[in-house]
Amino acid sequence: MPSTPVLIVEDSPTLSAVYGSYLAHEPYQLTFADNGNDALALIKNNPPKLLILDLNLPDINGMDILKYIHEQQIPTVVVVLTAHGSVDLAVDAMKYGAFDFISKPVEAKRLQITLRNAGNNHALKEIVDVFKEMYERDKYHGFIGSSPVMQSVYHIIENAAPSQATVFVTGESGTGKELCAEALHKQSPRSEHSFIALNCAAIPKELMESEIFGHIKGAFTGASKDREGAAGLADEGTLFLDELCEMDLELQSKILRFVQTGTFKKVGSNKLEKVNVRFVCATNKEPLKEVQEGRFREDLYYRLHVIPIELPALRDRGEDIIKIASNLLTIICNEENKTFKIFNSSVKTTFLNYSWPGNVRQLENVIRNIVVLNNGEVVLPSMLPPPLNQPNEPQVTLSIVSERKASALVDSISSLEPSKDVTPLWLVEKTVIEDTVRFCDGNIPKAAALLEVSPSTIYRKKQAWEELAAKTL
Ligand SMILES: Nc1ncnc2c1ncn2[C@@H]1O[C@H](COP(=O)(O)OP(=O)(O)OP(=O)(O)O)[C@@H](O)[C@H]1O
Ligand SMILES: [Mg+2]
Repeated sequence: MPSTPVLIVEDSPTLSAVYGSYLAHEPYQLTFADNGNDALALIKNNPPKLLILDLNLPDINGMDILKYIHEQQIPTVVVVLTAHGSVDLAVDAMKYGAFDFISKPVEAKRLQITLRNAGNNHALKEIVDVFKEMYERDKYHGFIGSSPVMQSVYHIIENAAPSQATVFVTGESGTGKELCAEALHKQSPRSEHSFIALNCAAIPKELMESEIFGHIKGAFTGASKDREGAAGLADEGTLFLDELCEMDLELQSKILRFVQTGTFKKVGSNKLEKVNVRFVCATNKEPLKEVQEGRFREDLYYRLHVIPIELPALRDRGEDIIKIASNLLTIICNEENKTFKIFNSSVKTTFLNYSWPGNVRQLENVIRNIVVLNNGEVVLPSMLPPPLNQPNEPQVTLSIVSERKASALVDSISSLEPSKDVTPLWLVEKTVIEDTVRFCDGNIPKAAALLEVSPSTIYRKKQAWEELAAKTL
């Protein structure tokens, strides 16, 4: 096992030697500094895992070193040495993140045990950090969101980024496909080179080949000088072929050759050029369906479809919707010089229940609309633009559910004389619960949240109805 780097900061050479001897048989790689400035330089250059810090140094106060480590969030675990009796100082040190303190004179056993504990603490911190990074990211490059579906997107990007393999991004319109391609590039070893995006749907068919491969002077009418294409510009970097399924079939075969060999010819030229690019492509179509229907070459599909990333629809990201909306609210308020700070709870419910067919881009548009057309600190339901304020939208369907529930209850209660028209309360409740569960596509926790009960209440009631139905059969 590699030994753990430990820095001992102590101005007395005699004491340093003593500490060194106490730790001689422990698995540490010891470094010594006899003043604060040297210690800081060592910490900045190559932070040790553990630091034994005497607070009383000749040049700077040891507490300032501790504060620096704390502020910079340097992952070093610090054990502070204090003069006998200076408990206040030790308490201060703990406030600034010291792991423990030892009063002088230091005993061998105490030093060894404290350092062992500090080492364990460091190892635990590292494990927690790794887990946090893997499973608790609430943003990643340009993405906002911490839902499990997005964690797995971040995970694939992270693992795919260092490789040369082609990534094929799919997802509904506005789910962040371009953002995903950019994240792949930024995370990759190619990040210092160019990221070139080419939208295959936006460029006329006749110009597409020249856009991708470039042309030489005189290649066609209007080609007054040589021009580099996306392929050449992306050399050493990433070439993002967006809306790939829209590409002309004839050009698809040239792209296939390019992907296979890394070589291409500029329009009008016979010279073969070679580049080193990483391909990322995206489509909001179903690529296999495009293949089946003859609009997308099967061989190109299999060549490019190496690492698929499917971006989830916004409606499937739960609370991420609110996180993204809040982030956009801050950004857009800054741009528009407005003062909105938060969404009121019913706006949040509307956001959570809306289907967002245009995904994050639509959410952006909705927030911009609200910010531009209104003023205040809290976003209210009356500020929502269409279609979120339309009666046929889901949140209103829900209020119909609630209204129906309320009116059925009122009906039952107000008819003092029971008649055969009165709906039993359990049936009213069953109808409301079943309507809500259906409205939430069978998602019971979501339905429970809307009905303000716990999911177990719904499960329990469902079980009771099933037992009742079984008995009456
Ligand atoms: N998770 C997210 N967090 C914050 N912003 C996001 C997120 N996902 C997408 N966006 C933003 O939403 C907008 C749309 O994203 P992008 O253009 O990458 O989507 P797309 O899938 O390529 O859309 P289209 O299919 O319409 O081309 C961009 O402004 C992007 O920055
Ligand atoms: Mg796009």
